Amino acid sequence: MKTKAAVLMGEGKPFEIMELDLDGPKEGEVLIKYTAAGLCHSDLHLTDGDLPPRYPMVGGHEGSGVIEEVGPGVTKVRPGDHVVCSFIPNCGTCRYCSTGRQSLCDMGATILEGMLPDGTFRFHGNGQDFGGMCMLGTFSERATISQHSVVKVDDWLPLEKAVLVGCGVPTGWGSAVYSGNVRAGDIVVIYGIGGIGINAVQGAVHAGAKYVVVVDPVAFKRDTAVKFGATHAFASAAEAQEKITELSWGQGADAAIVTVGTVEEDVVSAAIGSVGKGGQVVIVGLSSPAKFTVHWPGIDLTLNEKTIKGSLFGSANPQYDIVRLLRLYDAGQLKLDELVTQTYTLEQVNEGYQDLRDGKNIRGVIIHDS
Ligand SMILES: NC(=O)c1ccc[n+]([C@@H]2O[C@H](COP(=O)([O-])OP(=O)(O)OC[C@H]3O[C@@H](n4cnc5c(N)ncnc54)[C@H](O)[C@@H]3O)[C@@H](O)[C@H]2O)c1
Ligand SMILES: [Zn+2]
Ligand SMILES: [Zn+2]
Repeated sequence: MKTKAAVLMGEGKPFEIMELDLDGPKEGEVLIKYTAAGLCHSDLHLTDGDLPPRYPMVGGHEGSGVIEEVGPGVTKVRPGDHVVCSFIPNCGTCRYCSTGRQSLCDMGATILEGMLPDGTFRFHGNGQDFGGMCMLGTFSERATISQHSVVKVDDWLPLEKAVLVGCGVPTGWGSAVYSGNVRAGDIVVIYGIGGIGINAVQGAVHAGAKYVVVVDPVAFKRDTAVKFGATHAFASAAEAQEKITELSWGQGADAAIVTVGTVEEDVVSAAIGSVGKGGQVVIVGLSSPAKFTVHWPGIDLTLNEKTIKGSLFGSANPQYDIVRLLRLYDAGQLKLDELVTQTYTLEQVNEGYQDLRDGKNIRGVIIHDS
């Protein structure tokens, strides 16, 4: 069958809309018709040189949709099921899945090459194989993906909003609740309020933080964070540091979460400097693997027992947490509708990413038309 998709052909190039050939599902695979796709910053890293993938690559790793067909051996879903995609698959049986650490599933090893678990591709065009970002390629009308990449969700939920629970919501929420281990009464500082950072605010508020301090140079982002429960918002790390020192009587924050678009050494250093004894520093944002972003005297970590850790998918378990977060939304306790600043057609994908670069969006979402 044919599918229209937004594709990256090489570094520094914008998305191109193309018609591709799509193979149907093989063993363990499903055909999905995507309803919506979120515009996460990680897809920008594919073209800005930070995370060069295997090209050509169909973009998009935040997705929701309806299962149209299943291949042999599929037990997780059936045609008609509503699903949210997980940008890290969860096989259920590898060392990490079987110990409750699905965000580290071994099946996620090829997410930047975009082939399916058997090592082959389902998108083709001009005699070439096309990968799908995170084995999904949600910037396509349809895709054939592994059953391990989908999580069945309640069919009364709006897929145009639930899509954000495929990456932004669990990554941000989990960075505070799981990776940052935020507890009632804590002081938390969050650097960068995009689709990830705003959900770190939601997570910190849920966990009972006393003060949630945010840093973002864009006024709209700071104002939105306050609407989501941040108690203090600053344009610079230095201003935030002054406030944290005052709020904590000099002890420092309990957790610092780095969710900026491109991680640099200065923001990581600000985060490490902001936490006090026993503090947790969580690095969520991405940057080029060639860049050294953590550069700090180890003795500060030793004498003050500070922890610096990375966080992938918020250290969450997609199979459990995607459903759990959507049920929090259903119960009125998690904001999703307010996260979507602007919707776009597939053809407007580059416009959507320009709006992200210009600081206009908390999250932009592509709505695939029928
Ligand atoms: N670890 C994971 O599992 C995971 C998952 C998804 C995305 N990410 C990464 O998380 C990062 C954030 O993604 P997003 O979609 O929210 O991006 P975004 O571009 O929508 O938001 C980033 C925000 O950071 C702000 N910012 C930039 N520099 C700053 C600085 N020095 N101090 C404070 N704020 C600053 C920007 O103004 C913007 O509001 C990206 O690097 C993305 O690739 C990681
Ligand atoms: Zn993402
Ligand atoms: Zn696994």
